[in-house]
Amino acid sequence: FIKRAKEKAEKEKAFTNAFKGRQEYSIVFNPEDYSTKTMNANGEDVTFRAYEHLVYVKKPYVPESQMLSIYIPEAYLKGGTVNGFTAETAPIFMPNGVGGYMPGTIVEPQEDSRYGGANAALYALSNGYVVVSPAIRGRSLKHKNGYETGKAPALIVDYKAAVRFVRFNRKAGRIPAGDTEKIIASGTSAGGALSALLGATGNAKDYVPYLKEVGAAKERDDIFASMAYCPITNLENADMAYEWMFHNANEYYNAGPARRMPPADSNAAPEGNVQNRPANAPAEAIQGTAITPEQKEISAELKDKFSEYLNSLNLRDSIGNRLNLAPDGYGLFREFIESLYLEAAQNAIDTGEDISKTPWVTVSEGMAVHMDFDKYIAAVKRLKGVPAFDAFDMTTGENNEFGTYDIANKHFSRYALEHSQLVTVPKEEEEKKIAEEKARQYGLATPVEKRQLRKANLEEQMEKDKLDLSQYMANGLVVKMLNPMRYIGNPDVQTAPHWRIRHGALDRDTALAIPAMLAVKLKNSGKKVDFKVAWGYGHAGDYDLPDLFAWTDRICK
Ligand code: DHB
Repeated sequence: FIKRAKEKAEKEKAFTNAFKGRQEYSIVFNPEDYSTKTMNANGEDVTFRAYEHLVYVKKPYVPESQMLSIYIPEAYLKGGTVNGFTAETAPIFMPNGVGGYMPGTIVEPQEDSRYGGANAALYALSNGYVVVSPAIRGRSLKHKNGYETGKAPALIVDYKAAVRFVRFNRKAGRIPAGDTEKIIASGTSAGGALSALLGATGNAKDYVPYLKEVGAAKERDDIFASMAYCPITNLENADMAYEWMFHNANEYYNAGPARRMPPADSNAAPEGNVQNRPANAPAEAIQGTAITPEQKEISAELKDKFSEYLNSLNLRDSIGNRLNLAPDGYGLFREFIESLYLEAAQNAIDTGEDISKTPWVTVSEGMAVHMDFDKYIAAVKRLKGVPAFDAFDMTTGENNEFGTYDIANKHFSRYALEHSQLVTVPKEEEEKKIAEEKARQYGLATPVEKRQLRKANLEEQMEKDKLDLSQYMANGLVVKMLNPMRYIGNPDVQTAPHWRIRHGALDRDTALAIPAMLAVKLKNSGKKVDFKVAWGYGHAGDYDLPDLFAWTDRICK
């Protein structure tokens, strides 16, 4: 044991030393170093100043991934107004380009986005917002010295550092426009999770040592509003939520491990039948993979655990009823989830869409009155295997996100660790068990018994191999630091007062329960939350920019 502890200490020392001499950067903004650009935003010319590629921490691990660009409507530099805003009152829109928990690149203004017309950054500029877009470290990022440098919690450390950079330089008058009390984060999928995390964890102490370590400005990092499309968040509980929703599916459509961890430079649009999937989202296979009896049992166990977790949150609806679930998975929370899909269906009907071909919604006299969960699953199909996020073989993107500088993939839930393929059943005992079984019922040990054996064996094996096995479990604090749910309502954290959360009606990358729990917890803590299921959309974002910026206008003015 002592020998192993020594080895570990030496490894850590080598890691620290490898980065000791890294180059230091100034984080003092230079107002003179800019270019002026004009772009066409949906038929209207927008002229803006671009301050580009500014390293936002003093001691970056990978400078290219820790720089940001600032875009400011030119009108403000001439004392003008745009959309009723001035240089002093213009909100600061901070989109992130993270997807798949991979490194995020700077979101530059673009005239032709995937939905046609200006992308969010250009749309924001044309509406008088100052845009600050940071590149952000992600799970596949390796330093040229070979060490991993983008694992959790790197992404949230970077986003916070970018916020601090903006406050630090704007308050000193170096950045010429923008209201630092109106910072609005935005992202999709893993980027939506990141936006929510930034919004939830304002000034939380847990992140301070990491921020110091990268040389972030000493400033507040709380924000005014967070917008999240299909946030892949609350990862430590996402497996339970997924089984609660998708347990009855008998096959899943994930295209498999090869596409579950795309290389850093992968920008290829995944194939699959849901439009506009983010580039790093898992791809969808044409043919389903059958869920095995063993996986079904795992699924049932996770599903049962979900009610327990959900009830522990103590969520309430708008009239004070507890949004609970009975042990069988039924209850007010389920009705609430159904009501979200039905509300989306009703919206579609009210805007003239024909939804009569949607097999999982019953419409009666123009009203969406009933949702059938099983038909829903049959129609949209289950995307992910069992478990969906913390895989027993540690091959998901999320396992990869929770790796460390020296170990690429880790577990982040106790349940998956207990069932991990790392945990081996000792031959002898297993053979004994199998023999017993054979004698008793002429069969082999059931998968459940094998698993129980593994589980019973875990403590013993961990005791014997203290460092060896536990090193594949992510640090508990890091798991917490990636979960907004663990910070909302904490008295020493400044959670953003305004939220907009969207989840596509056809999205199966995570269960709707995940953003729903986030939205309700926020509401229950007194935050203003605009939360909706978006009809017709799958796992996607930025599909409703006019509505999005109408909302930001409302909350800012
Ligand atoms: C993304 C999608 C996923 O299914 C996932 O597990 C993580 C991230 C994404 O699109 O960012």
